[in-house]
Amino acid sequence: MSPNAQTNKKEVQDFLIGRHYRRDNHVTLFNGDCLDLLKVIPNEEARLVVTSPPYNIGKAYERKININQYLDQQASVIEECVRVLSPTGSICWQVGNYTDKGEIFPLDILLYDIFKKFQLKLRNRIIWHFEHGLHCSKRFSGRYETILWFTKNDDYLFDLDPVRIPQKYPGKKHYKGPKAGQFSCNPAGKNPGDLWVIPNVKHNHIEKTIHPCQFPVELIERLILSMTAQGDLVIDPFMGVGSTPVAAIKNNRRSAGADIFKEYLDIAEERVTLAYNGLLPTRPMGKEVYEPPNSSTLTQNPFEEKGDY
Ligand SMILES: C[S@@+](CC[C@H](N)C(=O)[O-])C[C@H]1O[C@@H](n2cnc3c(N)ncnc32)[C@H](O)[C@@H]1O
Repeated sequence: MSPNAQTNKKEVQDFLIGRHYRRDNHVTLFNGDCLDLLKVIPNEEARLVVTSPPYNIGKAYERKININQYLDQQASVIEECVRVLSPTGSICWQVGNYTDKGEIFPLDILLYDIFKKFQLKLRNRIIWHFEHGLHCSKRFSGRYETILWFTKNDDYLFDLDPVRIPQKYPGKKHYKGPKAGQFSCNPAGKNPGDLWVIPNVKHNHIEKTIHPCQFPVELIERLILSMTAQGDLVIDPFMGVGSTPVAAIKNNRRSAGADIFKEYLDIAEERVTLAYNGLLPTRPMGKEVYEPPNSSTLTQNPFEEKGDY
């Protein structure tokens, strides 16, 4: 893959990755402030905006600022996201808690009024539950974050079929009425609901890179498959190492995003190229969460007293 200096674009066969937005790019990886990317994107261009912004908690990629100043910055980005969103499109804002002196402030609560100011309509507050994270000693350890899913209008694209999950009781039948004896559930599977149990990307996760807070690709795939059509544009203003464009490319969508760190974008470029060629290892959607076997030494309690009961 060789850089084309004139167009600032790389071509892998017919696959176009640009560092500046153009409609015919498959993926745009903009290095800089997301507002500078968003301002060159035409109105109503994207079917989905999905992102996880910095939480203003002093991670390696952010500077902790006054919470009101942070919310004002988020409002400026959200306003631009609403502008670039198609009338049938969705915005998914994935957040956890802002914390200050041991007190937690759920960001979805703080951000909700901003989305409402732009007349968006909340369709789901998805709970993303995972098993691993910081161990707290003065409160219960945080094991979920949320995704606020808003639409611009009442007429929005939503397709459940590609994201159905297996039925719990596929053999269940109607026991009375005109359908008695027939299977009662949808054989294509059931609605996955609004509580999603998906492992977060920690050290032993197959998708782990140097980024401290990556999206699991399967989380974004579920949103992309249900809220966009093939060829649609998916924007992630805070793109990190490109989990959103990876999910988009795997499913024949286009994607554009920004990050202030070039190092992250270089990893994103490598990941989307591998994904385009079907070579990026990702955790498959719908895979069961790993349960260690009872026979493992790790699950045997060495402190348990063994006695006669
Ligand atoms: C929570 S991380 C997102 C990670 C991403 N979901 C992934 O899977 O890699 C937030 C990202 O926003 C980036 N960022 C912070 N401020 C930004 C800004 N003003 N414009 C664009 N990106 C920014 C950070 O560098 C960080 O990578």
